[in-house]
Amino acid sequence: MLLPIMLDLLITHATLPDGRTDMSLAVRDGRYVAIEAGLAAPAAHTLDAQGHLFTSPFVDAHFHMDATLSYGLPRVNQSGTLLEGIALWGELKPHLTFDALVQRALGYCDWAVAQGLLAIRTHVDVCDERLLAVQALLQVKKTVAPYLDLQLVAFPQDGVLRSPGALHHLQRALDIGVDVVGGIPHFERTMAEGAASVRTLCEIAAQRGLRVDMHCDETDDPMSRHVETLAFEAQRLGLHGRVTGSHLTSMHSMDNYYVSKLLPLMAEAQLHVVANPLINITIQGRHDTYPKRRGMTRVPEQLAAGLTVAFGHDCVMDPWYSLGAADMLQVAHMGVHVAQMTSQAAMRQCFDAITTAPARILGLEGYGLQVGCHADGVLLQARDAVEAIRLLPPRLCVIRRGRVVAQTAPRVAHLQLAGRPNAIDWTLPIQA
Ligand code: FE2
Repeated sequence: MLLPIMLDLLITHATLPDGRTDMSLAVRDGRYVAIEAGLAAPAAHTLDAQGHLFTSPFVDAHFHMDATLSYGLPRVNQSGTLLEGIALWGELKPHLTFDALVQRALGYCDWAVAQGLLAIRTHVDVCDERLLAVQALLQVKKTVAPYLDLQLVAFPQDGVLRSPGALHHLQRALDIGVDVVGGIPHFERTMAEGAASVRTLCEIAAQRGLRVDMHCDETDDPMSRHVETLAFEAQRLGLHGRVTGSHLTSMHSMDNYYVSKLLPLMAEAQLHVVANPLINITIQGRHDTYPKRRGMTRVPEQLAAGLTVAFGHDCVMDPWYSLGAADMLQVAHMGVHVAQMTSQAAMRQCFDAITTAPARILGLEGYGLQVGCHADGVLLQARDAVEAIRLLPPRLCVIRRGRVVAQTAPRVAHLQLAGRPNAIDWTLPIQA
């Protein structure tokens, strides 16, 4: 089909995540104006995808950009536990500077763009009278806006009720432009205080018309049941589909009968879930001898209940996690393993958990591969979503609003073995 307009960009021979092959995507004024097989039109720029997977950008629904790239400052987490990580962050906080926060965050955003990760929801610690990290990340949000959507969550790391002044500081952060209300009920002093914090924070969100995203039940304690209160408050306050429970690791250890009652409540509240496979498998089960619990929340069961479930990166080189490179495919790869989501359909769900699902949770406008959506996307050196998770391939080309913002050379390996082919082919024909 010949389009009668001059395009800014024409992408051809692309495979899309839904399995359609040999597709063309036409871009004008930063948006897709046609997505069909065999499009032709004059275009200022063209990109031949050569049959590779072209997907909407990766989205990270859960991150801590105020802590990222601080690994080793002032020391390394020895026990590997959540609680030592929080203590370590407390040691680092007095030494943070505005410039260092901004530079580390911008550096991470560079990594993200190169990896095709173009939207991030980051929690930012508000337990600080100066709101230094908030100020820094608000500036970063503005700086990166042309190439990356950054959404900020007001996160009372030390407990909104437990930490003196935290509730006031959280409200101040919201006043100056932080987007989402956060919380950490399992870190409050008692179960009752945790539940009270959930109620208070959801009421603040309802009054201000904001979304909620709480660190919730990030513990192996099966009696940590703040997710129940979170879902109940979401329903009571009419916040359906606007509340996210992050981590929810206690659900891993809960009694099955209780979960059979909890999941329908979560579904009625349209509660969203963010699991963080890399971090959950690293931090949970630390008090166990053997067997050691994996600790990740019950992702397949939540999906079966109709919930939107995303996978987040949570941490990269910070007091809680020593690895990471802004690669959401690493996150999905770990998610496949920890949740044992190994069928073809389940692996595709894991790909959705780093693309479409988090986009829904963040409420990203214009996200997707449909006509009218923003012309954002990533070309991967892989043929489909499952192969992308298997190979963690180079991001050949990253596009934002129809413009190339990052490129990586294809991975090529050559063998020097007598009687064997010279070029490595990492693909296998897909068997029916
Ligand atoms: Fe987190």
